[in-house]
Amino acid sequence: MFLTHKKVKIYYQDKGPKNATPIIFLHGFPLTHAMWAHQVDFFSKNFRTISYDLRMHGKSKSGDGPIFLEDHVDDLIHLQQHLKIKQAIWVGLSMGGYIVLRAFERYPDLCMGLVLSDTKSEADNNEGKLKRAAGLKDIKKNGVAPYAEGAVSTLFAEQTFQNQPKVVDLAYKMIVSTPVKNIAETLLVLAARTDTTEGLGKINVPTLVLVGEHDVITPAENAKKMHQKIKKSSFEKISNAGHLSNMENPKSFNQFLLNFLQNLT
Ligand code: MLT
Repeated sequence: MFLTHKKVKIYYQDKGPKNATPIIFLHGFPLTHAMWAHQVDFFSKNFRTISYDLRMHGKSKSGDGPIFLEDHVDDLIHLQQHLKIKQAIWVGLSMGGYIVLRAFERYPDLCMGLVLSDTKSEADNNEGKLKRAAGLKDIKKNGVAPYAEGAVSTLFAEQTFQNQPKVVDLAYKMIVSTPVKNIAETLLVLAARTDTTEGLGKINVPTLVLVGEHDVITPAENAKKMHQKIKKSSFEKISNAGHLSNMENPKSFNQFLLNFLQNLT
């Protein structure tokens, strides 16, 4: 289904009982809602699960011109309001986590629980910004395929490359199908996002911080520090997983998420 708002078209899936507790899943960069397939299958039996393609990803279309992360927050809120959901559990992985952390600063009353997976609150430092600039230059010159190969090489744990080539291939296909322009624009969005670290102390809803034990993009030590700054939070490391922990070890990811949800509802 699509939600059209001004010139923006957001593709979303809404599964599970409509009167059940709603969970909204926000994917990482540059992936799509399809990365949540295991979670949607599992949780839609007892929860209302909403997964969607962020603007400029998957089947969603951007509006006019450049955007900030703020626009992704607006999209999340429009979608939630369109679905007439007063409060939801927001589950964000990596870039999805950046969005829900900022959304919580702006709209705390619309959230009943947060799940921050393989993400961080810090904005890009200078080194990070220069890396984005180099990525942008590279993708404009060489196209998406080399970029996708480079990205995939950092997303997974060693054992995932060895034992789950289909999972690696799935992520590669999502990245390589994203147009150059969309990746380029999202690199700017990521480089320009605000730092939400100060807001961590104000988070007053139950929060679960998850991280793949081998995540090299948003490492476990950093995730633990984030957890220590959020009052009502718990922290779990997912074994045999890197940055895309929900795809690499869905069994553990789902179990931790289920425990969290059962204490919440
Ligand atoms: C992601 O998975 O969303 C990205 O690693 C986020 C980033 O590049 O900062």
